[in-house]
Amino acid sequence: MSNYHIKHLEEYYQVYRKSIREPENFWEEVAEEHFMWQKKWEKVLSWDFTKPEVKWFEGAQLNITENCIDRHLATRGNKTAILFEPNDPNEEAQHITYKELSERVNKFANVLKNQGIGKGDRVCIYLPMIPELAISVLACARIGAIHSVVFAGFSSTALSTRINDSECKMVITSDGSFRGAKTIDLKGIVDEALKDTPCVQTVLVAKRIDSIIHMESDRDKWLQPLLDDASSDCKAEVMNAEDPLFILYTSGSTGMPKGMVHTTGGYMVYTAYTFKNVFQYREDDIYWCTADIGWITGHSYIVYGPLANGATTVMFEGVPSYPDFGRFWEIVEKHKINQFYTAPTAIRALAKQGSELVEKYDLSSLKTLGSVGEPINEEAWHWYNDNIGKKKSPIVDTWWQTETGGIMITPIPFVTPTKPTYATLPFIGIQPALMDENGQEIRGNQVDGRLCIKFPWPSMARTIWGNHQRYRDTYFSAFENKYFTGDGALRDEVGYYRITGRVDDVIIVSGHNLGTAPIEDAVNEHPAVAESAIVGFPHDVKGNALYGYVILKDTGESRDHNNLRKEINQIITEHIGPIAKLDKIQFTQGLPKTRSGKIMRRILRKIACNDTTNLGDTSTLLNPEVVQSIIDGTKNSN
Ligand code: WT7
Repeated sequence: MSNYHIKHLEEYYQVYRKSIREPENFWEEVAEEHFMWQKKWEKVLSWDFTKPEVKWFEGAQLNITENCIDRHLATRGNKTAILFEPNDPNEEAQHITYKELSERVNKFANVLKNQGIGKGDRVCIYLPMIPELAISVLACARIGAIHSVVFAGFSSTALSTRINDSECKMVITSDGSFRGAKTIDLKGIVDEALKDTPCVQTVLVAKRIDSIIHMESDRDKWLQPLLDDASSDCKAEVMNAEDPLFILYTSGSTGMPKGMVHTTGGYMVYTAYTFKNVFQYREDDIYWCTADIGWITGHSYIVYGPLANGATTVMFEGVPSYPDFGRFWEIVEKHKINQFYTAPTAIRALAKQGSELVEKYDLSSLKTLGSVGEPINEEAWHWYNDNIGKKKSPIVDTWWQTETGGIMITPIPFVTPTKPTYATLPFIGIQPALMDENGQEIRGNQVDGRLCIKFPWPSMARTIWGNHQRYRDTYFSAFENKYFTGDGALRDEVGYYRITGRVDDVIIVSGHNLGTAPIEDAVNEHPAVAESAIVGFPHDVKGNALYGYVILKDTGESRDHNNLRKEINQIITEHIGPIAKLDKIQFTQGLPKTRSGKIMRRILRKIACNDTTNLGDTSTLLNPEVVQSIIDGTKNSN
């Protein structure tokens, strides 16, 4: 019997040790007992981090939708699979049962096929948080098409870059979306994006806001009539365990986002197993993750992990502030949520509103609280623990990444004693290592270093779409034979991990991973800008906010700085999306550079944080005099 459901600390240690000593036996047992395979594997694991190449369950055949849907039909056919809570609290919630989900996914899958989509084709999904989003994801998986979901807050430029990178044949979108009191013209954004995407043949349009939109003849098709005509029976495509399931883009250190490729078998096993344990999900629980399916959190812990366990998973279309800041708690009461999984930035924003809006609602159904996306600070942790969990629901601070596919370092509720701001212990099968600058592993406790993982786990990304070399350079070259996460971490006296933050050029703003390079590229598009450098500085709600240092071209004319600030942020909104807007922009004559011409972000970061007492040695800079002028200029940043 594999220990599919861990119930106490001793068991955790015991299972953990087994998963490290005999990883293949361990994962084989989990895979064998809890999933449906059309054909068993020939080899559980083969790996080589120097290439890097990782294969789990090689030779096995399966379809993940049979595991997420079909196998539940006999016992859970009338159980709610997806509970959809609309943006408008007066619109009725939808309870989509496993049986209905099966019909809707099969119909959708047939629509895809009828439109010429087949195994291995890429389909871009650009939808708001409506049921069609989860259903289209599953429909792709049903026929073996590779889905690439792009978060519907991304701009048209960001969308077209992603569509072209993976050469998507189809885009699935909607006429628009509701977001609080606003509506957003999604189809307009898609039309703009598709001006320059020769690979796209078809656009399927779901109706959500009933707006009048442009439909390009021969290219754009309303989804509903096609669904009405489609059969609700679609045989699941036979997939190899290592066939790609999806691509999901994450930002990196160059302007080009990285299309992380996740494969089928290992991803299914790991997301399902972590879901069961990290949330201690029991059969009739109602589970709610507030993330958007446009991010990895939504892929793994709204769609695949919960459905693979036959769970009821909530999809919320709206925002935490609409109609007021009590909305989350209203939903918890209304649907009697048992597990609630959200981000520190949301917690901080809600904590700011005080506790009256919380006290109005009955939160007694809650058993487990989760946090993800960035380090959760002490204050937010206590507010969450005291006001939402009433000190009786453990907080699972889950550390992981788009690249890792599933949760990597986390407490197991009611099993691992929690500690504020600590993600605590590695999950089963995960072997973290802290590394020093010389590439040596730091052993023992009460140490800190760069966080690496030294052994493969089933849900790790296998490559970057179309660029395996970049995959290798980014994750497997900094430390020999190890996956480098880009994060720093410390390990305390009992071996608990605390993630201290990124050690590369990625800044986490409101839980969103933003690379500095793509933002700088966007800023530099402004005709008046010569050069720019972006750094993060602490923000009480967003965790980090963005500070831009901008050098203007010397044209001899004077320019209105406030107008320029607006224009620069407008360009960022167009190129990336509003999440990447700069909170502060300082115009400066120069940027501190090393002799090899690299911008010294460390200094800029300190200045942005108003911490100029210890800037370190600036004498080796190419232009040390520029530092003081930047410090003097901070009073003019806005
Ligand atoms: C980066 C990955 C994984 C889902 C959402 C983000 C940071 C994530 C935590 C946490 C401290 C965290 C890391 C990581 N991060 N969770 N619990 N504590 N930091 O996915 O966009 O790929 O971002 O988010 O810096 O590397 P992502």
